[in-house]
Amino acid sequence: MESVQAIKQRFGIIGNDPKLNRAIEKAIQVAPTDISVLVTGESGVGKESIPKIIHQLSHRKHNKYIAVNCGAIPEGTIDSELFGHEKGSFTGATQTRSGYFEEADGGTIFLDEVGELPLTTQVRLLRVLENGEFLKVGSSKVQKTNVRIVAATNVNMFEAIEKEKFREDLFYRLSTVDIHLPPLRDRQEDIHLLFRKFASDFAIKYKMPTIKLTDEAVIILQNHRWGGNIRQLRNVAEQLSVLEQNRTISADTLKSYLPTAGNNLPAVIKTSKSDSDFSSEREILYKVLFDMKSDLNDLKKLTLELMKNGNTKDVEKNNQGLIQKIYGDDDVDYEDTNDEPELLSIPEQTAHTNEPLNTPQDKYHFAEEIEEEETLSLHDKELELIKKSLERHDGKRKLAAAELGISERTLYRKIKQYDL
Ligand SMILES: Nc1ncnc2c1ncn2[C@@H]1O[C@H](COP(=O)(O)OP(=O)(O)OP(=O)(O)O)[C@@H](O)[C@H]1O
Ligand SMILES: [Mg+2]
Repeated sequence: MESVQAIKQRFGIIGNDPKLNRAIEKAIQVAPTDISVLVTGESGVGKESIPKIIHQLSHRKHNKYIAVNCGAIPEGTIDSELFGHEKGSFTGATQTRSGYFEEADGGTIFLDEVGELPLTTQVRLLRVLENGEFLKVGSSKVQKTNVRIVAATNVNMFEAIEKEKFREDLFYRLSTVDIHLPPLRDRQEDIHLLFRKFASDFAIKYKMPTIKLTDEAVIILQNHRWGGNIRQLRNVAEQLSVLEQNRTISADTLKSYLPTAGNNLPAVIKTSKSDSDFSSEREILYKVLFDMKSDLNDLKKLTLELMKNGNTKDVEKNNQGLIQKIYGDDDVDYEDTNDEPELLSIPEQTAHTNEPLNTPQDKYHFAEEIEEEETLSLHDKELELIKKSLERHDGKRKLAAAELGISERTLYRKIKQYDL
């Protein structure tokens, strides 16, 4: 049996992390069998090399290896792609065509993004997995094939099952053995190693000296979240290799290539593919909420200042920067406003009373109430944002979704979820 090290070399896999080694070892162990394997792990962790290893180390290696990206094939044609079709079975089916399951007879099919398979296709797949039987689209003639399936997914299949988007029986049939690839952030020792490999590859590709990181930059590199995993790391290495004149990369230079939005926000865990668009939309929502929070803090500062000082004009003069930050340059013209400009009035539900807040105690209470407002959960704020937007647009989902920066489908789901 080939060693893990030899396989890594043969398939260009970099890294020494024990979890990575274990995944490769499992692939080597199951390769000679016909056991179905499900490869799991976040996007960009290197799932695609596992089915290749399995195929190459199996008795099927002289037959076909076909990789199918289930997420990329339109729902209307996927059955025909996988199982073939009969002439005349649908408009445009001018000839009988064989599908991947027929072509890969004796070989291996890699079903990438398997969680994206439509339910009807899942039924056909289950049958072929159970007894090797399938029907071409539009045919009633049962055909036989002998194909080994390796599937991969970067979504949470249990959630997909829960939502009835994926058949439980198929899931267990596909995942007799589960090979999990760890995210890059859990392979800290490997990060710099991979970076050096990519830097050296790009130096050759672009005929430039190899970039090198300062010690400080290495620490930044190792502690980054790497949501896009190895794919993202390689992109950063490529950009630095092409764009940086100074071939020694400082921490600051590196930081300027790492996305900052969302870095301090809660990690958004991808659950299912249908939720993946939602995940990025949720990140946007988080960002909006955090921006709002920052505005709220600025407002709080202004209000407290106003309470301490009492003189609107002075406060206005001393806080031009803040006022512009919150309201922009053009929105507020102080010359035209009366003595109590709207932006400096205390919201009704917070003020409770129209009497001036003069004593230190009053100030303290006021600050406390603002504090309490701030602790509203993200859930509440999300709900509130959605409600407001819907009201503003007379319940027109399309306009509200556009304003919130989320898809209509997501908004629809939220409306149902919150029973709006
Ligand atoms: N250990 C590794 N050593 C070197 N390159 C790697 C390694 N793992 C992944 N890569 C490279 O990173 C890129 C992303 O890997 P891959 O396409 O296999 O990701 P994936 O897990 O299939 O992601 P997705 O779920 O988004 O399809 C590829 O270019 C791959 O060659
Ligand atoms: Mg992939």
